[in-house]
Amino acid sequence: MKSIVITGSARGLGYELAKAMIPYGYGIALSDINEELLLNAKKTLEEAFPDAHIIAIKANVASKTDLENLYEETQKAFGEVSVFVNNAGVNQRMVPLYELEKKEIDLLLNVDLKGAMLGSLIAFKRMKEQGFGQIYTIDGFGSNDAFRMGLNAYGTSKRGLTHFSRALAKESEELQANVLIGRLSPGIMITNFVTHANEDKTTMELPEKVKKVYSILGDYPDVVASFFAKKIAANQNNGVCFEWLTNAKAFHRFLHAKKYASRNFFGEAKQ
Ligand SMILES: NC(=O)c1ccc[n+]([C@@H]2O[C@H](COP(=O)([O-])OP(=O)(O)OC[C@H]3O[C@@H](n4cnc5c(N)ncnc54)[C@H](O)[C@@H]3O)[C@@H](O)[C@H]2O)c1
Repeated sequence: MKSIVITGSARGLGYELAKAMIPYGYGIALSDINEELLLNAKKTLEEAFPDAHIIAIKANVASKTDLENLYEETQKAFGEVSVFVNNAGVNQRMVPLYELEKKEIDLLLNVDLKGAMLGSLIAFKRMKEQGFGQIYTIDGFGSNDAFRMGLNAYGTSKRGLTHFSRALAKESEELQANVLIGRLSPGIMITNFVTHANEDKTTMELPEKVKKVYSILGDYPDVVASFFAKKIAANQNNGVCFEWLTNAKAFHRFLHAKKYASRNFFGEAKQ
């Protein structure tokens, strides 16, 4: 059966995307570095969708061996890997670059940038042999070259990832691999990510101004995931970017800022 692998899918966008893909008939490979969260996610999904086919495989995206095992186990369970989503990510502490420690930069690049590159190369090689497949990375702040104090390292990794995905789409085209490469651009989602850094070890208090902007532009990840699931299930094109928070949508939200700001998400980040 067709299947989807999603890294970092024990919670947040990854989890919601897994859930949203079930009605499209995909076997689901959940995966995360956090085993406890991962097993809980599998249990919750199985209770909600008793007929769904779900496996859960612990994998750290910084480990090539883990990612190879994740791919092979999914292939074994479902017969094919149709979609591979490099979703796992960590945020940075919102401080100027010079205040970050080397180990924080290493973690961020190893997970957000190198993790997605490793996942893609493992999936690409095998999907090329298979003759079809889709591989996605997740855009984030910096993908479009925006700057903000406190997001230098994260923005650098996301900007790099955008280049990576576009270059991989070109490679796929030139190699006639029939592997579709794409980007998912979620805008701002109210998840643990926006208030935590360094694998949840650091909690960040967002300034009131930032909370207000997030309340206007942000959404819970289930809303964004439903949009992506529909796009992925129907996608036939290489080099795509599925963008949730378009400029037009952002403009509309600022025009109706009062209505959106009243959602006041904070104090209730969704797991
Ligand atoms: N939340 C936002 O506003 C936002 C905006 C744009 C892009 N994104 C991107 O969306 C993706 C998902 O973010 P989220 O908001 O759902 O965050 P989240 O923190 O809720 O979920 C991230 C998941 O990744 C897992 N993870 C962390 N390190 C890992 C590793 N080394 N190996 C495997 N799994 C690991 C975590 O355990 C967690 O389950 C990330 O790539 C992030 O950069 C988020």
